[in-house]
Amino acid sequence: MKGMVFTEFLEMVEMKFSADMVDDIIEDSALPSGGAYTAVGVYDHGELVQMVVALSRRSNIPVPTLVQVFGEHLFGRFNVLYPSFFAGQVSVLDFLEGIETVVHTEVRKLYPDAQLPQFHCTRTVDGLQMRYSSPRHFGDLAEGLIKGAIVHFGGGVAVSRNDQADGDIVFDLRRIA
Ligand code: HEM
Repeated sequence: MKGMVFTEFLEMVEMKFSADMVDDIIEDSALPSGGAYTAVGVYDHGELVQMVVALSRRSNIPVPTLVQVFGEHLFGRFNVLYPSFFAGQVSVLDFLEGIETVVHTEVRKLYPDAQLPQFHCTRTVDGLQMRYSSPRHFGDLAEGLIKGAIVHFGGGVAVSRNDQADGDIVFDLRRIA
C-alpha cells in the first residue's frame, strides 16, 4: 500500500489524539518498516491494520469505526491532493460511479505499483449500487470514503452495506429527499 495512506493515517492520529499516541501505536506494533513511511514508498497493508488495532486498544474505539473515520478523513485529503479529479464534478453518484473507470484508472497510471480495489457499479432506479472487492478487505475504508464523498457533495444520499459470503461488500446508495 502506498506510503501516503500511512502518512495520512498517522497525521490523522496526531490531529485527533496526539503525537504521543502516534509514537505509542508504532511502538505497540512490531512494524517491519519501523513506522518510518515516505509518501512515495510502498508498505505492507498489514502494518496499517496493526497500527489501527493498537489505536483501538489504547482508545477503546472499535477497529471498524477507526477505519471508517480514517476513510472519511482520507477523502478530504484526496480532495486537497488531487483536485483535478474533482474538477467539474457536481453529483456524488456520478463521481462514485467513476471511481473504478476514471479515478482509480488514472491513479493506476500515476502509480503503477498502487494496490487498488475493484468496484462494480450499477445504476438503480433511485441511486447506485457499488460492489467492492479487494484481497485486502478494506470495506470499512471504502465505507468511510463513500461517506466522505457524500458529505463533500452536500449530502442527500443514504448508504446501506451488505457483506457478502465471498468477502465482497455491496453498498447501496439511495437518493433521499
Ligand atoms: C479522488 C479521489 C480518490 C483518489 C485520488 C484515490 C486514490 C487511491 C490511492 C492512491 C489508493 C492507495 C493505493 C495503494 O495503497 O496502493 C487508494 C486506495 C483505495 N481506494 Fe481510492 N481514491 C479516491 C477515492 C476513492 C473512493 C471515493 C473510494 C470508495 C468508493 C475509494 C476506495 C479505495 C479503497 C477501499 C482503497 C484501499 C485499497 C483496497 O481496498 O484494496 N477511493 N485510492
